[in-house]
Amino acid sequence: MTHLNITGGHRLTGRCQVPGDKSISHRAVMFSAIANGTSTVRNFLDGGDCRATIEVMRGLGVKVEERSPTELVIHGLGLDGLQEPSDFLNVGNSGTTIRLMTGLLAGQKFTTFLTGTPQIRRRPMSRIVKPLRQMGAVIVGRQDGNYAPLGIGGTTLRGLDYTLPVASAQVKSCLLLAGLYGQGLTVIRQPGPARDHTERMLAAMGAPIATYGNTIHSERPDQELSPIEIDVPGDISSAAFLIVAGAIVPDSRITIVGVGVNPTRTGIVDALVDMGARIEYRNQRNQSGEPVADIEVQYSELRGATFGGEQIVTMIDELPVLAVAASQAHGRTIVKDAGELRVKETDRIASTVSELRKMGVNIEPTPDGFIVEGPTRLMGGSVESLGDHRLAMATAVAALAAQGPTTVFGSDVTADSFPGFEFTLQTLGANLEIAGTPAAALHV
Ligand code: S3P
Repeated sequence: MTHLNITGGHRLTGRCQVPGDKSISHRAVMFSAIANGTSTVRNFLDGGDCRATIEVMRGLGVKVEERSPTELVIHGLGLDGLQEPSDFLNVGNSGTTIRLMTGLLAGQKFTTFLTGTPQIRRRPMSRIVKPLRQMGAVIVGRQDGNYAPLGIGGTTLRGLDYTLPVASAQVKSCLLLAGLYGQGLTVIRQPGPARDHTERMLAAMGAPIATYGNTIHSERPDQELSPIEIDVPGDISSAAFLIVAGAIVPDSRITIVGVGVNPTRTGIVDALVDMGARIEYRNQRNQSGEPVADIEVQYSELRGATFGGEQIVTMIDELPVLAVAASQAHGRTIVKDAGELRVKETDRIASTVSELRKMGVNIEPTPDGFIVEGPTRLMGGSVESLGDHRLAMATAVAALAAQGPTTVFGSDVTADSFPGFEFTLQTLGANLEIAGTPAAALHV
């Protein structure tokens, strides 16, 4: 396993890019696999989670060529062309893969078994299994289908009118995909604006997906889906670590080029601007059906603020790093209505609190969020990733603004979503080195 040694206090300057968006990369592979013809995906995220989606699709008979680690050519088999796999399919550590694929597989004419890492086998699946069963799906798993491995006996599905109990793009997308194989209309009502990449991409491929505010309709297409040519925008969830670093490390000024700024994803930028951060979008444009901009951020005096309600789903993955920003803000920052954090790669309320406290952050957990009192002088120390990529990167960002050296143990996981995170920080001027043996090498 690797660890990061970071010495804070070095200003960050310059221009950089972040790898392709994780959510869009997963969807590009899955949806082009059921399109009729050959799709090209550029700037694909070459990270552990998205690679798991490629392998799952290969297990279903789909030919995925890799022109480079970030450029794929996918030979779609059409809506009914996937083939029965002869073994378990492994989703690795990816919640998006298991939840979306279960929806896609529930309406096939064959049986599939999905499994993954111990971490994914602890994450709740009843949120998809219950509504899929209402559509007629046959799914088994431990504890009445709440935990993987999941066995999915393909069957004929019927449409469903379903109100999501929590705003979740994974659940919404799972049910919209099942709706493509259902008899009749599927209507999904979401309590808040969960990311809408599924709706955008499927509609662009010709699927009958229609959005009316927070209600989305899906049904079986009359004709095959068209293949796509997609250039995946940079991932705002990865950019968020650099944005917070730029805002809290004195004298910093950085520009992150080509970042997706879909409004269902930009809650972190809105939150930081509310806190007083100087962030500008430059060169706004459209790229493969998604809004994109270059994001410029400068060191800023921050003040505490309260976040809750509908904004939370638009920044759910960025809340650990928001806590780091809050530690440098004057006054109290409250994050509420974020109970979903408890069922991510780790319980991100508990893990963010435990690791940031080791660096001197004044943070209290609440049942559905946390409260941070700032500003605090961050102190270097030893922290753990706990196997959670976003926690590893959030603590690394805290280390960039801390006094004294910090070690982030178990840092290999940064590559789940942001391969090159460490190198990018080095090029911006951070004093950071990777030590130890990469986890992948240990298995050789
Ligand atoms: C994702 C949706 C979110 C997010 C995850 C990616 C997606 O999960 O946390 O990192 O690609 O649909 P939930 O839908 O569980 O909130």
